[in-house]
Amino acid sequence: MGSLVNSFKIGRNYCAENFIDRKQEYSYSCNAVESGGNVVVVGPRRFGKTWLLQKFIVESGYPVIYLDLFCSFSLQCFLQNVIRQVYRILKEENPAGFVSRYLKNLVKHVRFSVDVGGVSFVIDNELSDEESVVQMYELFESIQEEFGQRLVVILGEFQGYKLIRERLPELLKSFFQMQSDVVFVASGSMRQMVEELFFKDSGVLYHSCLKLDIKSMLPEDECVEYIVRKFVDTGKNIDEMCAKRIYTSTRGHPYFVQMLSYEVWNRTEGNVTMEDVENAID
Ligand SMILES: Nc1ncnc2c1ncn2[C@@H]1O[C@H](COP(=O)(O)OP(=O)(O)OP(=O)(O)O)[C@@H](O)[C@H]1O
Ligand SMILES: [Mg+2]
Repeated sequence: MGSLVNSFKIGRNYCAENFIDRKQEYSYSCNAVESGGNVVVVGPRRFGKTWLLQKFIVESGYPVIYLDLFCSFSLQCFLQNVIRQVYRILKEENPAGFVSRYLKNLVKHVRFSVDVGGVSFVIDNELSDEESVVQMYELFESIQEEFGQRLVVILGEFQGYKLIRERLPELLKSFFQMQSDVVFVASGSMRQMVEELFFKDSGVLYHSCLKLDIKSMLPEDECVEYIVRKFVDTGKNIDEMCAKRIYTSTRGHPYFVQMLSYEVWNRTEGNVTMEDVENAID
């Protein structure tokens, strides 16, 4: 008898046991990073870019810094996020020691405070944008050396860079092009912006990244097997016909497969009928 908790997953947090396929895309990203190449991941909304990157964070074995560009409104704020992430992945516990060891050139500009939510760092407005980016990169390099392994910096929701600074791509350009063990993985859903920035010869970051284009739907057999298994694991039943109907009506779109399955599960006591599925689709 299963747990009777709906175990289909909708939301930001990647869950290994809810992850279907994307084997080629995952191995492409691992191979690219292994060979030292930057990558830009592009794909439609809700198509699994963030989940793929989270899988990479959890399973690739590389030290990773994940930065969501929609979460910062200035370069100083962006740098604060970088520092917080670095503090976290180094598993530091002593902020003063951390500052004197890793932020030597920022001592004049950085303050930290400790409260119940943990340690937070604040950068003052005296630090110029250019200097913020240089200091950020130096921090990446020093922790890369510390790990003795390639460091992966994920820039999620790359289309959000304009909130931070319109000229961010220009400021990052030389670091993207540097031969180094700091590798960037940008991701975004605005295809036109990605194409113009990274793949047009007039683009600021022209050919600084390999392209990982997530464009295929999830495969039918694996989705059907997944849906049936999740129902059985949670004490309910769905036959293959009904699971296939969920698949065909969503065409294997990752978000809608999870969402429709979630809804069907909620509407069913024990055995799913085709009527339950059609109701959920409606
Ligand atoms: N490989 C997968 N297997 C099963 N479900 C998936 C997979 N990838 C994504 N999903 C489902 O789709 C949802 C959306 O995925 P995700 O947040 O990764 O998309 P996204 O492309 O980053 O979206 P956005 O463009 O809005 O940032 C997830 O919450 C999950 O329910
Ligand atoms: Mg996303």
